[in-house]
Amino acid sequence: MTESFTYVNGILHAEQVDVARIAAEVGTPCYIYSAERLRHNYKEFRDAFAGMDIHIHYANKANPNLAVTRVLAACGAGADITSGGELERALAAGIKGQNIIYSGVGKTEVEIAAALKADIYQFNVESMPELHAINKVAAQMGKKTAVTLRVNPDVSARTYKKTSTGELGTKFGIDMVQLEEAMALFKTLPALDFKGFQVHIGSHVYDYEPFREAFLKLAELTHAWRARGYTVERLDLGGGVGIPYDGQSLAPFADYARTVRETVGNLGCQIAFEPGRRLVGDAGILLSRVTYDKQGHSNRFLILDAGMNDLIRPAMYEARHSIIPVKQSGAEQTALADIVGPVCETSDLFGVDYRLPGVGTGDLVAILQAGAYGAAMASTYNGRALIPEVMVSGNQYAVVRRRIAIQEQIDWESVPDWANVATH
Ligand code: LLP
Repeated sequence: MTESFTYVNGILHAEQVDVARIAAEVGTPCYIYSAERLRHNYKEFRDAFAGMDIHIHYANKANPNLAVTRVLAACGAGADITSGGELERALAAGIKGQNIIYSGVGKTEVEIAAALKADIYQFNVESMPELHAINKVAAQMGKKTAVTLRVNPDVSARTYKKTSTGELGTKFGIDMVQLEEAMALFKTLPALDFKGFQVHIGSHVYDYEPFREAFLKLAELTHAWRARGYTVERLDLGGGVGIPYDGQSLAPFADYARTVRETVGNLGCQIAFEPGRRLVGDAGILLSRVTYDKQGHSNRFLILDAGMNDLIRPAMYEARHSIIPVKQSGAEQTALADIVGPVCETSDLFGVDYRLPGVGTGDLVAILQAGAYGAAMASTYNGRALIPEVMVSGNQYAVVRRRIAIQEQIDWESVPDWANVATH
């Protein structure tokens, strides 16, 4: 638990707001974000690099909510985007094109044109055909644009397999052995302005050694290409810094900052970061109510009104989030329970063997560390609404995304006349 989500008189509060009140007024399940925590996390990130020329580009994919993005932008964050949709969102949240970096392996020409129109700060390019595509679109638009090359450093991030991106054989980045070819292209593609290199080795990296290995490779590249007459002025270190999930212990953030300083701090480069989870992960909770306390023959299940469609991380990565009661109870003895959702899949399981004293049918629970890749990855699977998102600041709260009810979703769709034909 962070200081932004604490018990006051035995009831869980988000900053100064009683979350049971939010449940009563907004309904469950819902996400609750702490503005104060977002600001705290941003400041901690920024201050760790005091004295260095750094740019922080919030990885919008972690939580694209406009209010979340705005709070971080107001603190000074730019955005790291991965699609034309995220470009629109970042601009709508008030981030200027000049504070936007565009990452991702599959930028289409339409998306590239939109980014050029917005005069973004930099494209992080991941392949040779992408270099050609950006050059072509930029030339057509009469522009020259800043580019860094994302390299695949062949470093294992030692985290979830599904969020590891820095090893050979993944689709990400340009393999080191192909850099020669990629760098040569800059001589023939006049609408591209080479600025430097980028790495992003994975997400939820909680052992900082892989970062050291990857950043050292960037430093080597910087020296090597400078020696060959290239100007290398920007290094983008990606995102990926982990957070403690369910009591996991993690080296202090200062160790990550030291790793950065020791590896790339003295190259005279501007350093960019693309943090997502580190800024928003612990700033959000998923508030849910127990629909049933079901005692099976061998297992006890607390069946929540939130499901894998609302928070897919446990099902997808076997991630284990902290789950706590909203109302503290004097009870000490309680049977262990598997925490599950209502969706018709065995994988709709938040985790096994949780001990939640005093919690039974009708009670509220909070799933912590849900600010990153929670609402962002939600779906309407099993005919479920997209749930509300609430932001708290001090003693006030606001619904920052309303519930998208089923009727609204039905209205997205249409049925052609010929669907009524029963025979063929
Ligand atoms: N930069 C790039 C190029 C990325 O691909 C990502 C995340 C980030 C930055 C931000 O990474 P962060 O600081 O948040 O670790 N859905 C997964 C995480 C997928 C991350 C995808 N890329 C999860 O729930 O754990």
